[in-house]
Amino acid sequence: MAPLLQVESSTKRFGGLLANREVSLAIEAGEIVGLIGPNGAGKTTLFNCITGYMHPDEGRIVFDGADVTRTRPERICRLGVARTWQVVRAFGRMTALENVVCGALQRTNRIAEARARAGALLEFTELRGRGDMPAATLTLADKKRLEIARALATRPKLLLLDEAMSGLTPIETAAAVKLVRRIHEELQVTICVVEHVMEVVMPLSHRVIVLDYGVKIADGAPQAVVRDSQVIRAYLGDRRAAR
Ligand SMILES: Nc1ncnc2c1ncn2[C@@H]1O[C@H](COP(=O)(O)OP(=O)(O)O)[C@@H](O)[C@H]1O
Ligand SMILES: [Mg+2]
Repeated sequence: MAPLLQVESSTKRFGGLLANREVSLAIEAGEIVGLIGPNGAGKTTLFNCITGYMHPDEGRIVFDGADVTRTRPERICRLGVARTWQVVRAFGRMTALENVVCGALQRTNRIAEARARAGALLEFTELRGRGDMPAATLTLADKKRLEIARALATRPKLLLLDEAMSGLTPIETAAAVKLVRRIHEELQVTICVVEHVMEVVMPLSHRVIVLDYGVKIADGAPQAVVRDSQVIRAYLGDRRAAR
C-alpha cells in the first residue's frame, strides 16, 4: 500500500536560503511521526509546503494518491490534511465554539451540524464550558487545544501539530500528550508532531525524522535516532563536525 503522505525531494528557498533541501519522507497511515530538529531547521516550512500554505520550488508532494505539490490549502484540507500553528492562530474575537465551527464548515454547509460537531470536539479536547468564551481570553494551553479541535473539525486523515506543547507547563504538556494519543487511538488520525522536548517526542512517536539546516539527517526508530552521531552533533551545536 502506498504511504498516506509522500514528500519527494522537496526543496524550498527563501532568497539564497535553503529552508528545505531535497527532503524526502513518507508517512504511513496509522503512524505517529515525530519531526525534530534545531530552530530554523525547516520543520515549519515543511508543514507549510505539505498543507499548500507555500509550494516547494522543486520536488513533489503526494497525499493519499493525489499530487498536491501546487494545490491550494483549502483543497488540501478537504483531501484530509489539517494542521496547527507554532504561534497559535485562533480567531481571537470569536468564541471558542465559533472557532471550531469554522473548521467544521469545511465539511458541511449546515450550521446546526457544524455546531454539533464543534460542541463534540470541545468536549473531546476537554474545553467543555469554554465554548462561549472569546478565544483571545483562553490560556495558552487552552488555545492550543482549541486549534487542535478546529483542525479535527475538518475531519483530517493526517494531522500536523507544530509545537503543540511548546510554552506549556509539565502538567499541561502531559495532558497534551494524552490528547495526541487519544486522537490517534479514538479518532484513528495519523499524526506528525513537531516538538522540542525529547522526553515528550521520543515515547510518543513510532518513528522520528530529524531535519538540520533544511536537510533530513535521520529517519528511524526513536531509540536509534537518539544514538545517531549526526543527530547528537546537530543538537550539541558542533555542526561542522557533522558535515
Ligand atoms: N516566510 C519566510 N521567509 C523567509 N525566510 C523564512 C520564511 N519562513 C522560514 N524562513 C527561514 O527558513 C528557515 C527554516 O525556518 P522554519 O521552517 O521556520 O524552521 P523551524 O520550524 O525548524 O524552526 C529559517 O532560516 C527561517 O528563518
Ligand atoms: Mg517552526
